[in-house]
Amino acid sequence: MTTTLIDGIGLLYTGDPAREEIRDAALVLEDGLVAWLGPAGRAPAADRRIAAGGRCVIPGFVDSHAHLVFAGDRTAEFEARMAGQAYTGGGIRTTVAATRRAGDAELATRAAALVAEMLAQGTTTVEIKSGYGLSVEDERRSLEIATGLTDETTYLGAHLVPDGVTADDYVRLVTGEMLAACAPYAKWVDVFCERGAFDGDQTREILGAGIKAGLLARVHANQLTEGPGVRIACELGAASADHCTHLSAADVDALASSGTVATLLPGAEFSTRSPYPDARRLIDAGVTVALATDCNPGSSFTSSMPFCVALAVREMRMTPLEAIRAATYGGARALRRADVGWLGPGARADLVVLDAPSYTHLAYRPGVPLVHQVFQGGLLLE
Ligand code: NIG
Ligand code: FE
Repeated sequence: MTTTLIDGIGLLYTGDPAREEIRDAALVLEDGLVAWLGPAGRAPAADRRIAAGGRCVIPGFVDSHAHLVFAGDRTAEFEARMAGQAYTGGGIRTTVAATRRAGDAELATRAAALVAEMLAQGTTTVEIKSGYGLSVEDERRSLEIATGLTDETTYLGAHLVPDGVTADDYVRLVTGEMLAACAPYAKWVDVFCERGAFDGDQTREILGAGIKAGLLARVHANQLTEGPGVRIACELGAASADHCTHLSAADVDALASSGTVATLLPGAEFSTRSPYPDARRLIDAGVTVALATDCNPGSSFTSSMPFCVALAVREMRMTPLEAIRAATYGGARALRRADVGWLGPGARADLVVLDAPSYTHLAYRPGVPLVHQVFQGGLLLE
């Protein structure tokens, strides 16, 4: 087994709460895992050596919320929003129509291209949702395509009630035949709990059915309005409540006293020109926060975690350390993954060498391609 030593690391952010940052550090990778890390002077010998040249090293980003299986384009909707129109989620129907028309190969190629785009920007773990099929076969094939790209697949049949079906009939389908067809391809079940999408009772019913079928819950909650989504997520022990833009004091308390992560998606607020969620309020209350892209053609067509880190620092009152923590360790917590989102003996050797002396530069130098090298499972991606 070859061992790889990365030395000359100016600053190592480990994501391990026990020792989060090490200056003048080195890392040893073996068999796809981190074998050792610590001060450069104490590094053991290895078969090959890579010099980081004083750069900062961080764990690969964990993007715990993305909608990558879709076809079509919503540039016109974005332009209308930038001219003052509000985002309602209704544009999901445009993407559903295009996705249903597309062949499997087109959907798979497009999703793979987005995953590659993410990887080049340092994302080594990504969650992928269905939700633009909204028929048994279109949801099933969306998830089958997603399983070819990640282990973190999410059944989001409950994204919107499609045209031509009553809400009651659709909830029956989502909790019945569609769930049975999709569950073999999914780890997670998700619901868009929002006015105009699914209400509290429907959300409980759909998540409950998913959990019964062996899936784990996560929820699109409190994105556009203050609704019951966050409290339902906490009650049902969901891994994550995502968006969390409009929160009551009771919602913050519920998150703080549960194991549910609040996943913030600032790309959506950027791209819908909405007020950003208040990360400071959540962190100060003791809530675990994750950052993710929400990459989708409607509300947030970015694949860039560095962009989300920059937004979190500039717009959401997060310190650079809190933002990098949320984009790595927080994302892993939101996916209930112990093997990624941190660096230490036994963790997956997923890491990013930044062309910068510290992770703060991700926010300080927004829009600059600072990803120098990406290692995934110990392999350096060329
Ligand atoms: O997370 N809000 C629901 N779903 C996506 C957006 C979907 C779309 O507009 O196509 C989101 O923002
Ligand atoms: Fe989303």
